[in-house]
Amino acid sequence: MNIINQFVMSRFSQRIDFMTHYLALNSELGILIDEQKLLRGLARNMLGEEDIAGVIIEDGHGRELIRETRDIPGPFETVQKWVYLSEAKDGMVSMNLITDNRDGDRIGRVEVIYSTSGIENLAKQMKQRFLIIALVLILISCFIFYIISRSLVTPVISLAKIAKKVSLGNHAIRAPEGNTPETIKLAGAFNEMLDSIALGRKTIVQAYEKMAKQETLVEVGKFSMMIAHEVKNPLGIIKSSLEILKRELDIPAGNVALTFAEEEIIRLNDLIESFLMFARPARPNFSRTDLNRIMYQVVTGFEIQYQSGLLEIRSSIPEAPFYADADFDLFSRGMTNIIMNACEANQGKGVIEIAIECRKKKWQLYVKDQGKGIPAEQLKKIFEPFFTTKAKGTGLGLAFADQVVKAHGGKIVAQNRPEGGALFCVTMFSNIKDDEIQGSLE
Ligand SMILES: Nc1ncnc2c1ncn2[C@@H]1O[C@H](COP(=O)(O)OP(=O)(O)OP(=O)(O)O)[C@@H](O)[C@H]1O
Ligand SMILES: [Mg+2]
Repeated sequence: MNIINQFVMSRFSQRIDFMTHYLALNSELGILIDEQKLLRGLARNMLGEEDIAGVIIEDGHGRELIRETRDIPGPFETVQKWVYLSEAKDGMVSMNLITDNRDGDRIGRVEVIYSTSGIENLAKQMKQRFLIIALVLILISCFIFYIISRSLVTPVISLAKIAKKVSLGNHAIRAPEGNTPETIKLAGAFNEMLDSIALGRKTIVQAYEKMAKQETLVEVGKFSMMIAHEVKNPLGIIKSSLEILKRELDIPAGNVALTFAEEEIIRLNDLIESFLMFARPARPNFSRTDLNRIMYQVVTGFEIQYQSGLLEIRSSIPEAPFYADADFDLFSRGMTNIIMNACEANQGKGVIEIAIECRKKKWQLYVKDQGKGIPAEQLKKIFEPFFTTKAKGTGLGLAFADQVVKAHGGKIVAQNRPEGGALFCVTMFSNIKDDEIQGSLE
């Protein structure tokens, strides 16, 4: 503000100074020849200029030649200049007239009185305008800052709020996109981070659940094995005691109570056997085996079992062998469990279809039944040990089959058929080369 003031004032005094110099220069002739009219004309001309309140012209002896004034508001200041006699050089008038250093050549003096009120008002006005402009600029800057900060800060605050909600357990919440490309990018990155956190959380929870389940299974398994082991021996004693009683008391073979007791002992023994087989699986004894021959034997067993009933076993087993490294005994017991389930699902009637497809090194067994199928929510559970929907089932049949097939590098898939009933598909692979087979057969 001061700089502006100083600048305006200095330009104003320069202007008055220059005009006074100009007056002094023009007054030289009038003073020399004492021409009042000329000097008055010069003085009046000067008075015609803005802010000039009076003009005094004196000769070299200090005698006042002209005094012209006019009435304008003050405050006033004066400026004076000496009038020098000019030197003619080569017909040119030297401009040293306007220097103040030549005391001897002074022929007069001009004095100009001027008012500073106009320029002060101007400076004041400029000051006010400057203040107004500065104020408006500050307001505009504040407004722009508010708009920019709002568009940037609001999404950041909302991100902070969302982060808080996530930390309180709301994992489904996502950040809204802002209006600027930066905030859209920020919200996108934030949401991606939340997605990956959610995914990580899900994986950890699943892993934890699996771990907890496995731990429980291990505990249950250990406990059950102990019980099974402890029950197996007394069961043997009960069975032989019954035999002795039967002989000593001469009880007839068809005695209902005795038959019932014997059947239950057999069932309990089977249960313990299959449990121990699952819980302490025998190591597969792999040898080059024809899977089709295994299935032929298994299926023939079922055909004999059901030949007199209403259940038909329809099988299509290729005659050509399919060799794979397999444990004959374990594999046939596993496949028996699957076919047995199909027969049980058919409830002693209808058709069970058993088909085998061999393509290069891939072997697939399909077992289709006409039962009620497997409810969707149970499909995932049927391979879990102890999962059963049967009153007298152990829930170990499929768990055992799955364990065996996996140990052979294969897999079992169960699904419901559109026409009703269930379909079990066992897939196995062979890593035996054709020339090896030939060699082994020769
Ligand atoms: N072919 C099928 N059709 C419908 N449900 C089936 C079939 N096979 C298996 N399941 C279902 O899967 C469950 C588990 O079968 P799994 O063979 O493991 O045990 P289980 O048959 O109940 O008992 P166990 O085999 O000891 O007699 C069965 O209880 C049944 O609910
Ligand atoms: Mg079963």
